[in-house]
Amino acid sequence: MIHALYPGSFDPLHNGHLDIIRRGSLVFDQLTVAVLSNPLKNSKFLELGARVNVVREATVDLDNVAVETFAGLLVDFVRQRSAQVIVKSLRGALDFEYEAQMAGLNRLLNPDAETVFMLAAPEWSFVSSTRVRELSGLGADISRLVPAASLNALKNLTDPSSE
Ligand code: PNS
Repeated sequence: MIHALYPGSFDPLHNGHLDIIRRGSLVFDQLTVAVLSNPLKNSKFLELGARVNVVREATVDLDNVAVETFAGLLVDFVRQRSAQVIVKSLRGALDFEYEAQMAGLNRLLNPDAETVFMLAAPEWSFVSSTRVRELSGLGADISRLVPAASLNALKNLTDPSSE
């Protein structure tokens, strides 16, 4: 059985992430979305709990997908969960430079963890959480870029009546 981890900040989850999760769930027996909990750095946008809830809600129909949080080194979490694969998404050449460096270091730290790259679907190749945060903050309509669960979480973030 091949267990893959798909790590990230997911701040917020966007349609490109969701596409990788869906496709990854078809390729691997078990896919765990590993949401980074970084106590050294405040959330740029959504708190950890909200990010996890969004991913859970958006993937509720995928039986072999789980959502967990992790802190510290990714390769340690890979060991803890007895996973064999780290899934990363590539949107283009810029991602490749960055991700190749991380894959090389992760391989050095844990040679048993194989990084598998999946190409982002062309329709989502221009979407990033950074751009979604910027657009959302400036009041743009992001409903075509993120799943409904993210949209609701972002609405709660800006809706004073939800406090
Ligand atoms: O969605 P992001 O923020 O681009 O995801 C980055 C992530 C979480 C995959 C990366 O920062 C990570 O693996 N962090 C855990 C700490 C770690 O293992 N760092 C060494 C990487 S070589």
